[in-house]
Amino acid sequence: MERNNFLKAKNTYLKEALIQQNMRELLFNFLEKKHYKNVLDIGTNQGEFAKLIKEKITFNSFDCLDINHNEEFFLNSEFNFICSDFLAYESCKKYDLIISNACLQWLDFKKAIIKIKKLANDDSVILLSTFCTGNLYQIKDFFNISLDYLSVEKIQNIIKKYFPNSYCFCKDYKLSFKSAIDCFRHLKNTGVTGFARVNLNKQILKDYELKHKNTLSYKCVFIIINPSLNQYS
Ligand SMILES: C[S@@+](CC[C@H](N)C(=O)[O-])C[C@H]1O[C@@H](n2cnc3c(N)ncnc32)[C@H](O)[C@@H]1O
Repeated sequence: MERNNFLKAKNTYLKEALIQQNMRELLFNFLEKKHYKNVLDIGTNQGEFAKLIKEKITFNSFDCLDINHNEEFFLNSEFNFICSDFLAYESCKKYDLIISNACLQWLDFKKAIIKIKKLANDDSVILLSTFCTGNLYQIKDFFNISLDYLSVEKIQNIIKKYFPNSYCFCKDYKLSFKSAIDCFRHLKNTGVTGFARVNLNKQILKDYELKHKNTLSYKCVFIIINPSLNQYS
C-alpha cells in the first residue's frame, strides 16, 4: 500500500473517511480542556484531528507533521506544518500533548513509540489510535494485500513497556455497501488503496459480493496516556 494515496484522496478523504472521523471523536473525548505548551499531531494529513483538538485547548505552539507535502492546507493557520517521516523527526522541543489518529499503522510501531517517548515529558498527555490485525481482513483474504498490522496484544505489550500508566482498548467497525464497486471506491476515496493496479472486472466484483457481501471491517486500537490520572475507568 502506498502512502501518497492520501494526496490522491485529498478531495474525498474528509467526506468519506467516516471511521477515521469516529476515531478522532473518540480520542477527543479523552482530552482535558486546558492549556498545553507544545502540541504535536503525527500523520496530520490536512489537519483534521488538529482542527478538532484546537477547539478544546489553548496552546503556545501546535506542530502538524506529515510525510507528505501537505503545506497547502496549513497556509495562514495557527499550525506549524512539518514535512517529515515521523521516525526521522528530531526536535529538542518536548511536547506536553502528542496526538496521532489513524497513522501509526504505516510505521514500525515500536520505533514510533520510542520516538514518542523521546519527544514527551514525564507528564505529557498522549492520545493515539491505529489499526491492528484483522483490519480490512476482506481485502487481505481476497487480494492478499495488507499492511503489516500488529496484533492487539503486541501493541499493548509495547505500550505497557514504555508507558506503564496507559489505557488501551479496541473497537471494531463494519461497513456495508450497496455494491462491490462502492466498497472499493470507498477504499480509494480514503487513501487506503494498494490494489490500484488490480483490474476490477465483473467477475472479481461478483466474487467479492458473494464472498464478503460487500462489507469491510475496521479493527482499531486506542491508546490513552495521561499520567495525571492514576487509573482509567
Ligand atoms: C489515514 S491518514 C490520517 C489523517 C488524520 N490524522 C485523521 O485523523 O484523519 C494517515 C496519514 O499519515 C501520514 N503518514 C504515513 N506515514 C507517515 C510517516 N512515516 N510519518 C509521518 N506521516 C505519515 C499519511 O501521509 C497520512 O496523511
